[in-house]
Amino acid sequence: MKELKTTLLVVTVIFFGDALMAQESSLELATERGCFICHTIHVDPAVDRPLAPSYQEIAEQYRNDEQAFQYLVNRILHGTLYTEQNWSGGISMRFMPPNVNVDRVEAAELANWILTLPEDKALRHRLANHESMLILSARSGCPACHLMDASPDSRLMPLAPAFREVARRYRDDAEAERKIIRSIIHGTRSATKIWPHVNMQFMPPNVGLVRTDAESLAHWILGLK
Ligand code: HEC
Ligand code: HEC
Repeated sequence: MKELKTTLLVVTVIFFGDALMAQESSLELATERGCFICHTIHVDPAVDRPLAPSYQEIAEQYRNDEQAFQYLVNRILHGTLYTEQNWSGGISMRFMPPNVNVDRVEAAELANWILTLPEDKALRHRLANHESMLILSARSGCPACHLMDASPDSRLMPLAPAFREVARRYRDDAEAERKIIRSIIHGTRSATKIWPHVNMQFMPPNVGLVRTDAESLAHWILGLK
């Protein structure tokens, strides 16, 4: 019995980890494709009339609709221009323009992600944190040099290490957080290059960044799966 419980626990943790990773990478895709220019994941109670419906509301609206997936894939690709306005009234935009930078595979991933947004509180909390860290990273200019994941094409030499590579490299290093915070705030030096496979010689200091934000970013990067 005890063994069974342990097995179940391990399985749950692994599943939770995988589900979370899939959620986070779809969130990254939505960020890169500009969806959050208009949408938010969760309803923001401080905003009276948002530009567009939140993904949580969309998930609820279509929860029991079997046609929803295909319908939303097409809505994402072609926009809602000149066709039925499903959300008029509660939002301040008239329609969604076609998302011309999204292909069909990506639209399917995004529609599936929106429709399966977790109701689980812990997962939702992590996802919200991931979103705010992506925003902080973007505002701090990190994506100018860093990707989240290493490119699968090994012929391309990246400017800087991908954030998930940083997480992997420092996984077993007890001093990691201190080292990373230092690198982020003060930059690195070309004489002591840490990442040999990247194109730039060093990271310049991120001068606009306050210390608490550097700490949050370091904690987030090192915790990436
Ligand atoms: C320029 C603003 C804008 C951008 C960018 C945008 N949307 Fe929308 N989206 C809207 C608006 C406005 C609506 C509501 C349209 C309506 O009333 O039917 C909407 C509706 C939706 C819906 C629900 C459609 C329906 O018929 O119920 C989905 C799903 C959606 N958007 C996903 C996305 C995804 C994924 C992206 C990024 C690839 C994205 N949107 C980018 C403005 C935007
Ligand atoms: C101008 C390009 C550039 C920008 C902007 C930049 N970085 Fe870097 N970053 C690099 C390079 C290049 C390296 C690798 C340095 C080396 O090999 O020594 C690096 C390394 C790192 C590392 C690993 C450091 C280590 O000690 O192993 C982290 C973490 C990191 N950057 C986070 C960030 C964050 C967070 C931001 C935004 C606040 C940011 N970087 C902005 C270029 C940049």
